[in-house]
Amino acid sequence: MDYELGVIGGGNMAEAILGAAVRSGFLSADNIVVADVAAQRREKLTKELGLTCVETNDAPAACPRVLLAVKPQVMGEMLDAEAKKIRDDALVISIAAGLSTAFFDGKLNGRGRIVRVMPNTPMLVGQGASAVSGGPRATKDDVAWTRKLFTCGGGLEVEVDESLMDAVTCVSGSGPAYFFYFIEAMIQAGVEEGLTPQDALKLATQTCAGAAELLAETGEEPAELRRRVTSPGGTTQRAIETMDAKGVKDHIIAALHACAQRSRELGA
Ligand SMILES: NC(=O)c1ccc[n+]([C@@H]2O[C@H](COP(=O)([O-])OP(=O)(O)OC[C@H]3O[C@@H](n4cnc5c(N)ncnc54)[C@H](OP(=O)(O)O)[C@@H]3O)[C@@H](O)[C@H]2O)c1
Repeated sequence: MDYELGVIGGGNMAEAILGAAVRSGFLSADNIVVADVAAQRREKLTKELGLTCVETNDAPAACPRVLLAVKPQVMGEMLDAEAKKIRDDALVISIAAGLSTAFFDGKLNGRGRIVRVMPNTPMLVGQGASAVSGGPRATKDDVAWTRKLFTCGGGLEVEVDESLMDAVTCVSGSGPAYFFYFIEAMIQAGVEEGLTPQDALKLATQTCAGAAELLAETGEEPAELRRRVTSPGGTTQRAIETMDAKGVKDHIIAALHACAQRSRELGA
């Protein structure tokens, strides 16, 4: 059986990407083969998306397009074992945080044309944000196909110079986790003020989703939208002043720089 796309690592991100590709009709489930060391992951992807799942990486590695979706920490070891199986003319897509196209070029010893992508988990619900960079030998078609793969279920992608991938990681790759962290804090405060956890969750989630939609649809600057809901002497102003006094913005900025730094370390 010839598969169009082979996937090594069938974890959360692979599930999001492949779910979007199959549900949108961009790829047929019959044309995809996924390798994962975990039986539970293989069973889930077969049951939920109808994908062919295998234990060893041989079949995915031999495909004309290969998606590498294991954690950065295990990528080098995995490629040391599998690189020889990758075709010279394969399109090889990596979503690993921090790992450069030069890293893959070295590991693959000139095999394949590398495209690097930094997606994020809202891809699971068709709302992902991805950044794409073509490696040295990647063609326009390789980049175009990859961009389509990462937006076929919705969401958006941008093409960036690879030097900006650590910046992308700290904004959108890890971004959903900051948002959940913020929501956790909103819920805690709401509950401490007397709301049920369920109502606090619903109100906080819709507020953040609605605010994001407002930002995207109006095209206004976030600072301007914030100014409009902050009446002088009012409740919002008190909250923002408290955040400023506690250095919340500075801490968030420091956290994102730390994230980018970790991305650089992973790639070093
Ligand atoms: N999660 C995010 O928000 C996010 C965002 C952007 C990019 N990424 C990138 O996406 C990649 C995957 O992340 P993830 O969150 O999807 O990780 P994950 O859920 O841990 O998925 C990786 C899967 O690969 C399996 N695996 C490990 N070694 C393998 C091997 N040698 N051959 C085949 N399968 C193997 C793992 O099994 P075991 O768990 O049993 O080891 C796991 O099921 C990472 O490189 C990450 O940097 C993630």
